[in-house]
Amino acid sequence: MTPRERLIVALDLPTVEAAEGVVARIGGAASFYKIGYQLIPVGGLDLARRLSAAGNKVFLDFKFHDIGATVERGTASVARLGADFLTVHAEPDVLKGAVAGRGRDPRLKILAVTVLTSLDQTALARIGLTTPIEDLVLRRAEMAAEAGADGVVASAREAAAIRARFGGALLIVTPGVRPKGAGVDDQKRVATPAEAIGAGADYLVVGRPVVEAADPQAAAKAIVADIAGVRGDGAG
Ligand code: C5P
Repeated sequence: MTPRERLIVALDLPTVEAAEGVVARIGGAASFYKIGYQLIPVGGLDLARRLSAAGNKVFLDFKFHDIGATVERGTASVARLGADFLTVHAEPDVLKGAVAGRGRDPRLKILAVTVLTSLDQTALARIGLTTPIEDLVLRRAEMAAEAGADGVVASAREAAAIRARFGGALLIVTPGVRPKGAGVDDQKRVATPAEAIGAGADYLVVGRPVVEAADPQAAAKAIVADIAGVRGDGAG
């Protein structure tokens, strides 16, 4: 995998037109795009089809969380649509449903959301979770591995522990990535691209630092260069 293939740009934009404008400005600097809640109700799935037909990889960030049977049917529909990554919550029945719904689809990978990168220990305590974040992330990663999911979404801070425990058995997809000098927005457990990759992340999800940049292509290229500095696995 090249450094460029490790970058996933989160198209967190209000319209499909705005998203397509950013994709055009990024040009060839990225080829993996995440579509989430903001775009899904306003044409995001057609955008996913178009991006995919143009040779890009597509991450649908649905974060499914429902009874197993419903998650299973929803995931089967996503597999028919054609996508590369789908997120679900890290609970045993949800994960089992997603893995069953994906069936033998050779393309779709199921990712378990461990603990959102916008949460810290104080925020977790407010919802009654007093387990240390790293333990909670590892417990949820274990559920993902046991259910046969393909990977986890986790912050750079937990990536090394996940890699140490699960080796290559789980893909690690890391949001909360901020290039040096960039604002953190609402993210709390942040890291630079090089730090995240150095900690063991396979893919980085970056939204605002790219899509809100004056020059999204330059921003994407700078992140890819930062990744390449850590992993010498091919240029571009
Ligand atoms: O703009 P920013 O780089 O913070 O965007 C990060 C993206 O990753 C957002 O689309 C957010 O929904 C997503 N995400 C996250 N933390 C998770 C899972 C997904 O920030 N644990």
